[in-house]
Amino acid sequence: MVDLCVSLAGVGLQNPVIPASGCFGFGREFAEFYDINLLGAFSFKGTTEEPRFGNPLPRVADCPSGMLNSVGLQNPGMEKVLTEELPFLKTYYHQPLIANVGGFSVREYVSNTARIAAEEQVDIVELNISCPNVQGGGHAFGTSCAAAEEVTKACKAVCPKPLFVKLTPNAANITDIAKAAEAAGADGISLINTLLGMRIDLKRRRPVLANIAGGYSGPGIFPVALRMVYETYAAVRIPIMGMGGVSTARDVIEMMLAGATAVQVGAANLVDPYACKYIIEDLPAVCAELGITRLSEMTGAAHGWSA
Ligand code: FUM
Repeated sequence: MVDLCVSLAGVGLQNPVIPASGCFGFGREFAEFYDINLLGAFSFKGTTEEPRFGNPLPRVADCPSGMLNSVGLQNPGMEKVLTEELPFLKTYYHQPLIANVGGFSVREYVSNTARIAAEEQVDIVELNISCPNVQGGGHAFGTSCAAAEEVTKACKAVCPKPLFVKLTPNAANITDIAKAAEAAGADGISLINTLLGMRIDLKRRRPVLANIAGGYSGPGIFPVALRMVYETYAAVRIPIMGMGGVSTARDVIEMMLAGATAVQVGAANLVDPYACKYIIEDLPAVCAELGITRLSEMTGAAHGWSA
């Protein structure tokens, strides 16, 4: 019998598999495919104060080993999430819930964090300072240590629940940003969000995405994400939710060996809505094959080697 349980900043999860924000909506479409109560947790779509329609179309593009998106934080807005999405979610989902919070100013991040953290249904708040697809928000806070520190400190002051800060790989040095977030009071780090990229349509000789650039995700980014999780684990003392191109049970274990306490699955859900279900179902057999009886013991187990 393999023990898949993990403890994430004091929140107990039945397994470490978590659909990533932006790839699972508010859960309802996926709940039509399978019982999403088998998940460890899930992180819902980044929520801003006002509803957002998002960026102009086209805003997705195919890539080798992944995809580009420039969605632009499309979401129904905080009020609707509080009054409609969360009450509906409560009728069919009873596992830990992660609220991903977006914003365009420190004031907005603080307001969104305070409102969502006050919800009894929410176990962890994930501060999204890493969306590459909006001007003046997200990413703008995640590429500067000073800005990351300021927004984290302000949000932690109104957040009695664990606050994870979701980081961008597009920063000059992601471990510096992680250390700044930790120093400002973050209870954990989520990494990585998407890598900024673009495609050009050869016949039309213009960028495929209306927004020109977008975030690259999918299996192609897994080695980059793994390296960043490995380095961040060595740099901070707070727990890590690792993500970036994870699509199999083996990827989950590899991410944990690099230092993740729990692992988010993003683009794979868009390829196959059953992706997380299959990963969770595969984990016991893969653990048994690798001689793992308690999965939580794998966190950081690949450290200690020098080059
Ligand atoms: O464009 C988007 O909605 C993406 C969000 C994110 O990467 O956090």
